[in-house]
Amino acid sequence: MKVLIVGGGGREHAITWAVAKSPRVDKIYAAPGNAGIAELAECVDISVMDAEKLVAFAKEKEIDFVIVGPDDPLAAGVADAFLDAGIKTFGPRKNAAIIEASKAFSKDLMKKYDIPSAKYETFTDPGKALDFLKTMNPPYVIKADGLALGKGVLICQNLDEASAGIREIMIDKKFGDSGNKIVIEEFMTGREVSVLCYSDGKTIRPMTSAQDHKRAGDGDTGLNTGGMGTFSPSPFYTAEVQKFCEENIYQKTIDAMAAEGREFKGVLFVGLMLTPDGPKVLEYNARFGDPEAQVVIPRMKNDIIDVMEACADGTLDKINLEFDDNAAVCVMLASDGYPVSYEKGFEIKGLENFKGRDDYFVFHSGTKFQDGKVVTNGGRVIGVVARGNDLKQARANAYKATELVNFENKYMRHDIGKAIDEA
Ligand code: AMP
Ligand code: GLY
Repeated sequence: MKVLIVGGGGREHAITWAVAKSPRVDKIYAAPGNAGIAELAECVDISVMDAEKLVAFAKEKEIDFVIVGPDDPLAAGVADAFLDAGIKTFGPRKNAAIIEASKAFSKDLMKKYDIPSAKYETFTDPGKALDFLKTMNPPYVIKADGLALGKGVLICQNLDEASAGIREIMIDKKFGDSGNKIVIEEFMTGREVSVLCYSDGKTIRPMTSAQDHKRAGDGDTGLNTGGMGTFSPSPFYTAEVQKFCEENIYQKTIDAMAAEGREFKGVLFVGLMLTPDGPKVLEYNARFGDPEAQVVIPRMKNDIIDVMEACADGTLDKINLEFDDNAAVCVMLASDGYPVSYEKGFEIKGLENFKGRDDYFVFHSGTKFQDGKVVTNGGRVIGVVARGNDLKQARANAYKATELVNFENKYMRHDIGKAIDEA
């Protein structure tokens, strides 16, 4: 089978790594890929947003199966373009990817189908939004409706901050049209857990749990990022929490989407907050998380092609999803200054230390080849992933492995998985 993977981040490297293990796969292409993916796949320089070129390439190479990784192309209908051309594709259509692309849509869906989440109101008028905030108590949670690289959520401690935030999003258009509408939400407290679920539109198969670290600095300080590190499983995702979510959240969400005529096929990422009143949905994403994929996929026992194909074919009920009884930790190596401003183009040294290892490895996020060398090419550069028999061992292995790879301006958090000690 010939597979095309659309995307070029750490998530897509983890997907490519799993696809390369499938005995069913003869050839992998990636668009655009990165320097790590290039070791497993032939990379082609086509933008993830260029549906026309992607489909033409897939036809020319007689691709049997396409996997669309990132949120932007899914929201823009890139999966639809492949499907409409008769090419089997993993990833939701645009009308289902809206569950991530519009926070107002997802909040309305949860309200209509009684799925636990924070109370909220949506606004298109900044003045009315501010008037509403005056009736609430801080901290205030303000979210841009559309996609904003994971940075469209503000938690404000007072009305001045909230007012400035509303101005940035709605008037200055910091996130473009994503800020035409905002959602104001009740503030929730508790542990956060991410659960990624395969779905074929009818059946849902939750994967093992994970936890991300979104803030740039140690101790959860600094700005929100795409994700600075993850661990899996979460010790806080107990059997009781899992049962509640299976009964009240996962299947209900897929059924709600089907009832709305928006069949969801692909990965539904459920961001949960374990509040004192029980688990509630913080957000949905329509794809694997990054860097959640980097710790969840290596723990999956199944052939990823079998599972993804079952999602596309509507036969997920035949799949028994299995995970290793171990743990994994990912520490993201970033460029100093991320997520604000940072330099690129530094040589990455030590990658040979990871060759042929199965206990620790690297997934490239922002890298490329330059003059025969692998160089930094993004804010998030490389995810160092290690397995262990338990979380503490995986964490120790991951931090040890971070010492094996070096580049100028290397930056990482030193407290990924600190919560493990509190479990
Ligand atoms: P989101 O992109 O919606 O997951 O939001 C990003 C982050 O903001 C979450 O991971 C939470 O840490 C925080 N957050 C979002 N919504 C709320 C809320 N209603 N209450 C408290 N924190 C929130
Ligand atoms: N790591 C969070 C996300 O992928 O949205």
